[in-house]
Amino acid sequence: MTIWKTEQTRRYYFYYIFSYLIFFFRYRAKVVRILERRYPLTVTGYKYLTVGIDVKLPSVVTIVLGDCHGKELSLSPTVWSELVGKKNVILPLLQYEETKGKRTPPPMYIGDVTLRFGRINSIPMLRLDSSSSKVTLSKSTVLNLFNLEYCVNRLISSFNAVTDTIDKKFSRLLNIATNVNDSTKLSRTMYENESFDRNDIIDCELIALIFGQN
Ligand SMILES: *[C@@H]1O[C@H](CO)[C@@H](O)[C@H](O)[C@H]1NC(C)=O
Ligand SMILES: *[C@@H]1O[C@H](CO)[C@@H](O)[C@H](O)[C@H]1NC(C)=O
Repeated sequence: MTIWKTEQTRRYYFYYIFSYLIFFFRYRAKVVRILERRYPLTVTGYKYLTVGIDVKLPSVVTIVLGDCHGKELSLSPTVWSELVGKKNVILPLLQYEETKGKRTPPPMYIGDVTLRFGRINSIPMLRLDSSSSKVTLSKSTVLNLFNLEYCVNRLISSFNAVTDTIDKKFSRLLNIATNVNDSTKLSRTMYENESFDRNDIIDCELIALIFGQN
């Protein structure tokens, strides 16, 4: 990886990872997601898909299957692309008529996610399990999910192009944060800094969502 190329950049990264840990324990224990885009997967929006960037060092593009009870199952872009790549295998297994009376198909494994096929009130369902969460989807929800393939792929490529910029900006803000004693003045100090650009959505979201919340 190119970032470890020189002793100087190595020291730079160690310094910021260190500041990040201090920051993390001081301010919050939850990773914040920025530039988030949310698509409903059901008519009511009870289940949804979001794509965004989890801000940490380094930041990562994350696709989340969630519901409005706060349940979230994260998929990496790699798992996402394998999942949509298998749609021609998955969809027939959710066909009510075709699967009626047949044995339950064996689970499928994609990265850290297990796909299990089952039935609820005899309707075929797909359950996605990861170590952190699980979500159960009906066939129409799965169809809506696969329908978003190109939108999600487009977002993943735009987001991949800005993760380095986010890491730099986040590091700079951490630098400011470690030098501010009074946390009530934190976001104001950041907004007043000459490098803050109010027309830059990354600047705005980083400060408001990570450093601005009380
Ligand atoms: C703005 O932030 C940088 C750190 O990124 C700091 O070195 C500089 O002193 C700040 N400017 C002001 C006016 O505080
Ligand atoms: C933070 O606190 C230390 C000691 O309490 C003090 O020396 C320093 O000047 C303070 N820094 C700011 C930016 O207020």
